[in-house]
Amino acid sequence: MQKVTLTINGVKREVMVEPDKVLLDLLRDDLDLTGTKQSCDRKGQCGACTVIVNGEAVRSCLKKVKDLEGADVISVEGLGTPDNPHLIQEAFVLAQGIQCGYCTPGMIMASKALLDKNPNPSVAEIKKALSRNMCRCTGYKKIIDSVMLAGKFIRKETTPEEYHRSLVAGRGMVGVSHPRPWSMEKACGLAKFTGDIKMKVMLELAVARSTEFHAMIKSVDTSAAEKMPGVVGILTPQDIKGTNIIRYADPDQPVLCEDKVRTLGDPIVAVVAETREQARAAAAAVKVTYDPLPVMMTPDEALAPGAPQIHNRPNLFFTQPLIKGDADKALATAAAVVEAEFSTQCIHQAPLEPETSLAYLDGEGNKAQLVVVGRSIDIHVHAAQIAEAVGWENVRYQEAYAGGQFGIKMGIITEAVTAAAALKFKRPVRCVPDMSESMIITNKRHAYYNMKLKLAADAKGKLTALLYNFDADKGAYSILGALMPHRSLQMLQNCYDIPNIKALARTVYTNNAPGGAARGAGPPQTIYGLEIAMNMLAEKLGMDPLEFRRMNSLKEGQKQATGQVTREWPFPELCDDIKPEYERARKEAAEFNKKGGPVKRGVGIGCCSFGIIWAGDICEMAVEVNPDDSVTVYGAVAEPGEGNDALLSQIAAHVLELPLDKIRLSTRDTDKTWAAGPSAGSRQTWASGGTLVDACEKLKAAWKEASSKTYQALKKAGKPTFYRV
Ligand code: FES
Ligand code: FES
Repeated sequence: MQKVTLTINGVKREVMVEPDKVLLDLLRDDLDLTGTKQSCDRKGQCGACTVIVNGEAVRSCLKKVKDLEGADVISVEGLGTPDNPHLIQEAFVLAQGIQCGYCTPGMIMASKALLDKNPNPSVAEIKKALSRNMCRCTGYKKIIDSVMLAGKFIRKETTPEEYHRSLVAGRGMVGVSHPRPWSMEKACGLAKFTGDIKMKVMLELAVARSTEFHAMIKSVDTSAAEKMPGVVGILTPQDIKGTNIIRYADPDQPVLCEDKVRTLGDPIVAVVAETREQARAAAAAVKVTYDPLPVMMTPDEALAPGAPQIHNRPNLFFTQPLIKGDADKALATAAAVVEAEFSTQCIHQAPLEPETSLAYLDGEGNKAQLVVVGRSIDIHVHAAQIAEAVGWENVRYQEAYAGGQFGIKMGIITEAVTAAAALKFKRPVRCVPDMSESMIITNKRHAYYNMKLKLAADAKGKLTALLYNFDADKGAYSILGALMPHRSLQMLQNCYDIPNIKALARTVYTNNAPGGAARGAGPPQTIYGLEIAMNMLAEKLGMDPLEFRRMNSLKEGQKQATGQVTREWPFPELCDDIKPEYERARKEAAEFNKKGGPVKRGVGIGCCSFGIIWAGDICEMAVEVNPDDSVTVYGAVAEPGEGNDALLSQIAAHVLELPLDKIRLSTRDTDKTWAAGPSAGSRQTWASGGTLVDACEKLKAAWKEASSKTYQALKKAGKPTFYRV
């Protein structure tokens, strides 16, 4: 151990540290300054851990404390508070540089290090200063805008108040970029993500995971792990009192595998210990022996004659045909036909926050409530899944702040095993996997294979037929079942009127990571193939690809792939809007190519239509007038960074004609909400937003009858203060 004296956020501190202790751990673990985040596995890749040391931006995961004698350290908590924020924090809030907020503290600290030296940086200088900081949500544009705005505040060219007024004054609530709820907490490092939450007597959990893709488990030896320092116990499948199965669409995914593993990283047993390091060391000491089984990494391999079943059912998980008109007949008489085959790869959604969860029992005996804290985007459904899997009826799910999701959080990753451990050990249990582990154990965008299509048109270039077959790689577990291929079929025609369609979607179990939701979930894969075929067919017909698309646009009243009648379709107008840019780009490319040389330029077009919600989709929202005349919006609308808190508060303020500070949100707790469906597939604005409008209209009508927009007036008129739709 070594004594180090340093100043942190203006406070002089003497600390005793091991030689390899890094600043990140000192801040987060010892001083509870959890504004500083960790995303990458301390590899210096993400920048979420950035702080300022002696005036320089430093990645605290790489900085040994023993080297910081006499250093001056500033973390995000040292800049400002929501009541007294730093100008940079104000700029990030006002310029919308904050979405999930997981990267935000690191971004703000890197920006401060830059602006302290150069208060008027160019975009290139900002990009360079932030080049070690990753953001998965914003696309960086708003972050750069935030730093530029902070520079203006620092140079006194404007003030936050003046800028805010210019942004919102007199512009109403909807369609205006009001600062997001909680963005100042995120800017000040005060928003608690699951990994930031600590509880007294909390245990840490780590999972011993399969090193095989497909194998029978021969033996599991936990004897060495049990004796390791800090270990409190081992959770085995036999300890789990429920079904030990996570059921979303199909009940096929074990919380802990009993006899068989089906993909790399499958959970086998869990170790709980006093510290995370102890738990992880003990989990690594669990010895598992296997009888390997044939590994099937593609649908073709899984459907080959003699291929072993991954579950006790055929590997062909689901088949769905779609037939509209007579595509075979139309193809036979078409003037031009193109034929092509594509495949797409599995894609990790890559949120910055690892797949963390926390669980504890609140209360005594059988009446205790099992509270699970995590990053779910569908808390009511996930609470029910956990209850069934671990065998405890009274489960409450609380959504912490979530560091991005992009579809990944439609699946339960660590919550059920953490909950089962909390039940067994009767202490709070937290699981914080590494990023590398998180990447292995999570669901992904489905890879699509064997995407074989034929696209046909008549001599005038009017599309006449589409034949489209494809195989979705389900991976080892169903997660959302066949929802993604289903959605591919629903949107198969993309932007176009195709009168005859014949398609077949197959979904196939393999030993890959399970396919789940990912941005656009399903249609992007099939649309990718169709769009290339559109280009091929335009070329064959000698038509301009943009004009070819425009003339084949769906029109109001025409039927889509499933027979759904199109009500509005602004695609031709969009084609007209991009035409000048398209022609400019083509001209520039042609001029460039005229110069000769080995490098050529081309201009591509990709179009995409996308349908939100699904058949049977439901959503419940409620509003309640409080005694202080503010209004609380209730609804389990997860906010992993996409702006749902802002949309709910702005819609409520707009419809109720109230200022934003009169709107409160209750959205993150199953005990205080009703199910509003997942924050996925771009559905929340339409589904929860629309339902909220209805609830607000009911309240408005009651206010009108009571002749006043107050709590007391409603009470006096004998009207309810609570309205649910
Ligand atoms: Fe430090 Fe990623 S760079 S945690
Ligand atoms: Fe940057 Fe989410 S706001 S990662």
